Amino acid sequence: MTTYNKDELSFDEYDEVINPRPEETDFDRVVEAAINRRDLMRSVVAFGSFAALSSFAPTIARAGADRFAFDQIAANTLDAVTVPEGYKVDVVISWGDPLWSDAPEFDGATRGTGNSQARAFGDNTDGMDVFSHGDKTLLVVNNEYTNRSIIWGNRTDGKAEVDDDVVKGKMAHGITVVELSGDGGAWSFVKDSPYNRRITPDTEMEITGPAAGHDLLKTEADPTGTRSLGTWNNCGNGVTPWGTYLTCEENFNGYFSAADPEHQVSPELARYGISGSDWGYGWARVDERYDVSKHPNEPNRAGYVVEIDPYDPNSTPKKRTALGRFKHENAECVVNNDGRVVVYLGDDERGEFIYRYVSNGVFAPGESTEELLNDGTLSVAKFNDDGTGEWRDLTPETTGMASLAEISVHTRQAGSAVGATTMDRPEWIAANPNAAEIYCSLTNNKNRGIKPNAGGDETPVGGPNPREANNYGQIVRWRPDGADHTAKAFSWDLFVLAGNPTVHSDAYAGSANVNADNMFNSPDGLKFDSNGVLWIQTDGNYSNAEEFAGHGNNQMLAGDPVTGEIRRFMVGPNECEITGLTWSADRRTMFVGIQHPGEKGNSHWPDGGDTVPRSAIIAVTRSDGALVG
Ligand code: FEO
Ligand code: CA
Ligand code: CA
Ligand code: CA
Repeated sequence: MTTYNKDELSFDEYDEVINPRPEETDFDRVVEAAINRRDLMRSVVAFGSFAALSSFAPTIARAGADRFAFDQIAANTLDAVTVPEGYKVDVVISWGDPLWSDAPEFDGATRGTGNSQARAFGDNTDGMDVFSHGDKTLLVVNNEYTNRSIIWGNRTDGKAEVDDDVVKGKMAHGITVVELSGDGGAWSFVKDSPYNRRITPDTEMEITGPAAGHDLLKTEADPTGTRSLGTWNNCGNGVTPWGTYLTCEENFNGYFSAADPEHQVSPELARYGISGSDWGYGWARVDERYDVSKHPNEPNRAGYVVEIDPYDPNSTPKKRTALGRFKHENAECVVNNDGRVVVYLGDDERGEFIYRYVSNGVFAPGESTEELLNDGTLSVAKFNDDGTGEWRDLTPETTGMASLAEISVHTRQAGSAVGATTMDRPEWIAANPNAAEIYCSLTNNKNRGIKPNAGGDETPVGGPNPREANNYGQIVRWRPDGADHTAKAFSWDLFVLAGNPTVHSDAYAGSANVNADNMFNSPDGLKFDSNGVLWIQTDGNYSNAEEFAGHGNNQMLAGDPVTGEIRRFMVGPNECEITGLTWSADRRTMFVGIQHPGEKGNSHWPDGGDTVPRSAIIAVTRSDGALVG
């Protein structure tokens, strides 16, 4: 039997290993795939033959006025954060830094304990935002997950030896709320601020919306189906128009296991990658509710968007089931012209979908916002090859499901039922502040044109997913008809196809706005600044070899939505992902997250020497104090 090193696989690769997708392996299928591959080459080589791309090509040829206030930096593989001349980088907070003065400083030898970690900045910083209120600046950050080889690197085989090792890993997950101080231009965090808070997999949550109280959410510990414990694998985020934080539960499945080896998970759970084994976190060892053979409904209580009020450290976070249950990346909120709240949502797994939520009520400052994320319509995107598309509503009538509650829990199945377009792993979604236009990173998908998704939906090459075995990724954008975010119809094109023009001369070279100097792979984080510049963060292959030669370490680039120009701004340290981006209220500081430097053992960032690598948030400022976004 083949053994797999879980640390060397991405989340969804591991999902596939332990829970193989339905896969046709007969000869007909192989032949068909080969034919598709030839067709792909014929049609993609000439971009003009793609209706959706042909409208895009003239746009990027029009590159003119320079909207970027920096000179592009070169790709590199330095164990450092590199930024353009005139900019400087300071570390604000790192994994394990205590938020309270009664907690110990980070200990690189032991890497902390369960108790110290529960009172310290979590691991693997991801989505974040800054909330400014009077003279208070609060940073709210997702701590997505942990790398076993780092957090348990004090153990000889990099695995948990004692229960407290598992607890430490668990407490490194969740959310950190921490007050920042920017006195004198240097940012630091404020120990013992009354706003400081750790929200962990043990924090009590309220379940709201259509699924609240449904039988599928009831457990032994919570027969009401309305109170769950905790949030984990919090990936991207969002901010509501009323100033609360949205955190998005992504790979929630990887924490469940079954003590009973005979246990068979239901097909409903299997669609979400739940199986008899977890991804190595071992939580069932210290917390029985992660044993799916004993508590089969517990996984139905995760996979949601959670709303948090950062100004009230005693508030109970609210799981918003109306926004659907899937591997949520982020939650991009827009107030439509008529006041309704629209939230764009991606499900990051190969061949899964893009969703839109539209509230029934309207946002009116000063009035209650409680029902705006509970009462509305969830839809899923269908993209046509001709550059048009539509939102298909998920209702009992359209899906054949019994209730909105069921749709809110089995959302992937609902999307399949209405024929949603299987996408190349939807990551962050960002709304252009200057136009009714939405961008979504489709990070990569090695199964495109090769293998169906976990629900058996085919993943044909075409539309916004135009390359078979897509290892580079692309960014799709769409414009709602009539600039109305609640409209059924939209038009779309591709902002960029990432690629490598030094290795390929076909579609895998990338679109016309990709060249040997700015190339990258696997776009993931996306955010617009107040000037309408689109910032692109990558979570890709950093081997810098073969298909990825010249791409260097993961990076952050700036894109001009008008001209299509893309320019590299930052390169991260070895084996990191760059993810999470926000700005200070005065726009003179850009905060950027550096996640898991050294995930394969080859970094000592940020502390240098022979120290343990630590995920951290950095502040980027200009030496001349000018605006940075
Ligand atoms: Fe946590 Fe899809 O990235
Ligand atoms: Ca991501
Ligand atoms: Ca990613
Ligand atoms: Ca990562």
